[in-house]
Amino acid sequence: MAHHFDPAPEVLANGVYAFESLPGPLISPPERSLQRLRFAHRTPSAHFGFPPMELQNYIRPAIAKVDSALDRFLPRAATKPATIHKAMRYSIFAGGKRLRPVLCLAAAELCGGSAEGALPAACAVECVHTYSLIHDDLPCMDDDDLRRGRPTNHKVFGEGTAVLAGDALLTHAFEILTHAKPTTRYGTGALVRELAQASGSRWLIAGQVLDLENEGKKVSKNTLKFIHLSKTAALLTCAIRLGAMSANATPAKLDALTRFGQSLGLAFQVIDDILDVTQSTEKLGKTAGKDVAATKATYPALFGLARARAIAAELTQGALAALKPFGKRATTMRAIAESLLVREY
Ligand code: IPE
Ligand code: IPE
Ligand code: MG
Ligand code: MG
Ligand code: MG
Repeated sequence: MAHHFDPAPEVLANGVYAFESLPGPLISPPERSLQRLRFAHRTPSAHFGFPPMELQNYIRPAIAKVDSALDRFLPRAATKPATIHKAMRYSIFAGGKRLRPVLCLAAAELCGGSAEGALPAACAVECVHTYSLIHDDLPCMDDDDLRRGRPTNHKVFGEGTAVLAGDALLTHAFEILTHAKPTTRYGTGALVRELAQASGSRWLIAGQVLDLENEGKKVSKNTLKFIHLSKTAALLTCAIRLGAMSANATPAKLDALTRFGQSLGLAFQVIDDILDVTQSTEKLGKTAGKDVAATKATYPALFGLARARAIAAELTQGALAALKPFGKRATTMRAIAESLLVREY
C-alpha cells in the first residue's frame, strides 16, 4: 500500500520549496517583493557558520539524510487539503541550519548507534522546532516578517493557515517518532514522553510564555536563565537525548549528554540574542534588532554584549567538559559545539 512514507515523486529540488509554486492569490503585492530576497548562505545544504572542512564533511551528508527523511515522512504537498501541506513544507524546507537533527545523529553515533537509526527522532524534533518558529513569528507573538531568509509562514499563507501548519507539524512529529525503533532501555513510550515533555508547558511553552510576559520588564538573572533553558535548551537537549536513546545509551552516557545539551542549548540562545544585536537581517535570514525593538529579556540587554559573549564562551566550555567521559569519540560533537560559539547566523 502506498502511503506518504514512500519516497515522494515530487521530491523538492534540493529540498527547497519553489516560491513559484506557492498559491499566488494568498500573497499580496508588497509581500511579493519580500519573496525576491535571496540570502547567499541559504543554499539547500545550509550549515551553520563557517565550520572547519572536516566538520562540514560531517554536517553536509547529515543534513542531506535528514532532508530526504523529512521529505519521506511529511505528507506530500499535493495531499488534500494542499494548502496546509504546502504551508508545512514551506517552512520545513526553508533552509534552516538543521542543528537539532544533526546533534541527534551525532549523539546516536557517539553512543555507538547509527545515523539511520536516529532519523525518525531527528525529523520529529525538527518538526517541533519548525512549528515553534512558525508560531513564534506570528503577529500575536514576536511578529516577524522574515524567517530562514524567506517571508514568514503567515505572510505567505495567512495567519489561520500558519497556526494550523504549526499545529500539524507538532502533531505529525509524534507520528514520525513512532517510527523510531525501541531499544532494550528505551521503549516507544519513553521516546514519546521525552519529546512531549521538552515541547510541553513545563519546558518549551513555559519559556515562550515567560518570554512574552517579560517583554518590557527587567528580569532577574535566574528568570532569564530559566526562559532560555526552557524555550531553547530543552528541545536541543531532547534532540541529543533522543539520538543517544536510539543507540540504547547507558544512563551514565545519557546523563553526560544531558549536561552537554543544557549548557550548549543555553549558549545557543545567548548567542542568538547576541546575533540579533550584532548581525544584519540579510546574514541572519530573520529581522535583526527585533529584541531591542520588542524590549525582550535577553543576555545582551541584562549583561551587555561583552559579558554576554563571555557567558556564551563559559557555557560552551561547560558543554565541552561534559563530553570528557567520551574521550576522542566526541571529536565531532566537540567541533559542533565550538563552531556554534563562532557562528554568524
Ligand atoms: C532559532 O533556532 C530559534 C532559537 C531557538 C534560537 P535556529 O537558529 O536553530 O533556527 P533555524 O532552524 O536555523 O532556522
Ligand atoms: C525562539 O526564541 C524560541 C522558540 C521558537 C521556541 P527567539 O524568539 O529568540 O527566536 P528567533 O530569534 O525569533 O529565531
Ligand atoms: Mg520569541
Ligand atoms: Mg522570535
Ligand atoms: Mg532570537
